[in-house]
Amino acid sequence: ESTLGAAAAQTGRYFGAAVPAGRLSESAYTTILNREFNMITAENEMKMDATEPSQNQFNFTSGDRIANWAISNGKRVRGHTLAWHAQQPGWMQNMSGSALRSALLNHVTKVAEHYRGKVYAWDVVNEAFADGGSGGRRDSNLQRTGNDWIEAAFRAARAADPGAKLCYNDYNTDGINAKSTGIYNMVRDFKARGVPIDCVGFQSHLGTTLSGDYQANLQRFADLGVDVQITELDVEQGSNQANIYAAVTRACLAVSRCTGITAWGVRDDTSWRDDNPLLFDRSGNKKAAYYSVLDALNGG
Ligand code: G3I
Repeated sequence: ESTLGAAAAQTGRYFGAAVPAGRLSESAYTTILNREFNMITAENEMKMDATEPSQNQFNFTSGDRIANWAISNGKRVRGHTLAWHAQQPGWMQNMSGSALRSALLNHVTKVAEHYRGKVYAWDVVNEAFADGGSGGRRDSNLQRTGNDWIEAAFRAARAADPGAKLCYNDYNTDGINAKSTGIYNMVRDFKARGVPIDCVGFQSHLGTTLSGDYQANLQRFADLGVDVQITELDVEQGSNQANIYAAVTRACLAVSRCTGITAWGVRDDTSWRDDNPLLFDRSGNKKAAYYSVLDALNGG
């Protein structure tokens, strides 16, 4: 196959991209997006600050623009994200305790209800674990409402959109390490207690090396009975960029429950990073990394 989406579909997987709503009016950009990708994530437009700028006053204008573009072009949508310590609206940043818990669950419910039937998978909770060696939770206003805030968010999301796959999503989980093991233990506990969780997202914002146990880490989560997805892939440009992209792609293909890969942007000039980490250059040309991913998806 000659596009990322079609090549991924040969094994029942998807290949997606994160998109800012503003780019949907740039035809050079949407030409690439429409041709190559078959899963769409809003880069910022479905986050808490975007969707609930004032308490219980929701604004879905930009998120809808992205979801409707995706659906009208035959693509699926990964929702990002219902609950996060960052990009909270100002009114929420200063809340705590039971008021914050209620506000959080109202947010999860209302946003997931709005997009019910349109979202393949939601990043229900994003980045709730700490970096470093503790393997524990990140401190945040949400965490201070009680350790059970994550499962409460998942239960609210399930009730609001029973058809969406519900994911936990995080970064620096690219191998077997303290942080990924902390998440692994949470997922194992959720599965044992019947907390609704269907998938784990591995953001995979990568530098110039890839952990040798990247695939083994995906596999150990899959073995818990959840899907795994590469959710925000980008890789520092350098001599190893194409190799790392290919290795990540092959790792996903080797794990039967790895259902797809999303790149965190399309062209290098639209990336949140300044180290040219994407598959298309600033002019929209396919990079070596692009060809290495396509070749891997085609079984090469
Ligand atoms: O849209 C406003 C604009 O109106 C304003 O004038 C300008 C001034 O700061 O800011 C603009 O918003 C920025 C937004 O991107 C859109 O460009 C925010 O400041 C900026 O913080 C925001 O950055 C986003 C970042 O998440 C925020 O945490 C990046 O685009 C986005 O790629 C990045 O994505 C995250 C994932 O959600 C979670 N995982 C990590 C990943 C990379 O940081």
